[in-house]
Amino acid sequence: MTYAQGKYPELAGKVAVITGAGRREGLGEAMARRLAAEGVKVVLTDIGHAAGEHMPEQAVGTSAEMEEIAAEIRAAGGDVATCVCNVLEPQEVHAAAEFALGHFGSLDIWINNAGIGYLMAPIVDMAADKWDAVLGVNLRGAFLGIKYAAEIMLRQGRGGRIINIGSQASKSGFAHAAAYTASKHGMVGLTRSAAQELGPAGITVNTLCPNHVTTGLGAWQNTHFSEVTGKGYERYMDDMRARIPLGRPGLQEDVAKACAFLCSDEASYITGEAMNVSGGEEYH
Ligand SMILES: NC(=O)c1ccc[n+]([C@@H]2O[C@H](COP(=O)([O-])OP(=O)(O)OC[C@H]3O[C@@H](n4cnc5c(N)ncnc54)[C@H](O)[C@@H]3O)[C@@H](O)[C@H]2O)c1
Repeated sequence: MTYAQGKYPELAGKVAVITGAGRREGLGEAMARRLAAEGVKVVLTDIGHAAGEHMPEQAVGTSAEMEEIAAEIRAAGGDVATCVCNVLEPQEVHAAAEFALGHFGSLDIWINNAGIGYLMAPIVDMAADKWDAVLGVNLRGAFLGIKYAAEIMLRQGRGGRIINIGSQASKSGFAHAAAYTASKHGMVGLTRSAAQELGPAGITVNTLCPNHVTTGLGAWQNTHFSEVTGKGYERYMDDMRARIPLGRPGLQEDVAKACAFLCSDEASYITGEAMNVSGGEEYH
């Protein structure tokens, strides 16, 4: 899609913040590209560097990577800025929201995308600090994003859109993924409460629930589960395709399309939802 015209003209000039958007092939990058193509001014945020023993360098959207993504979006005509933000830290999330306001003049869309999906273990082997790490980024991070984004949106008095990136694990349980599943189920409850509180101000709050996207974090998960199930990669992927009615795993662009729709006027009466983007793999 060129950046000259989008599918939803009403999005042109809106301002969006996306957390965890500094990693190549991530859902955050895809949503940023799509929103920029709609004329949205986008603030990419990410933690910028590995922090703590539970965050290996290869799982991090580094500042350099985030700047490269931003430069590419700019080169294609998009209006984009970057801001380092660890979603675990209230003052950093607050600062990212204020940065968007100061830099672009408003804050209309906030997307809680940052996530940890790689600390997988059976419950009996799961260390409590790993549990805390997953719940912290995936759930506390989303809470802080909603808190500080809503504060500004309420002040502006023009409504807004908050989108949380949940997962198929917001709806179903998965062995070895109790912390991830609990965090993503928790996100649905958080979404519903926030929708209740913010609806009267015209702020919609929804969760998108993608199934496996076979890039980035999803690629790591596929490799991990193909090993722990003993199936091997090819059989694991064949089985995945076989149980998805639309016959393929998700693409980042599938999530980006649903995100643009939820940001648009077409979705103005949708809030508190946990919307599957799963090719028919999830129903409820
Ligand atoms: N890829 C999939 O198959 C899939 C499926 C369903 C849901 N999701 C969800 O989509 C979101 C994005 O995942 P992805 O697949 O693009 O993975 P990804 O690993 O490419 O992106 C996650 C990003 O979160 C960032 N992050 C981690 N901890 C952070 C922190 N404390 N502060 C700020 N940023 C932090 C990382 O640096 C990284 O850039 C996640 O919430 C994930 O749970 C992914």
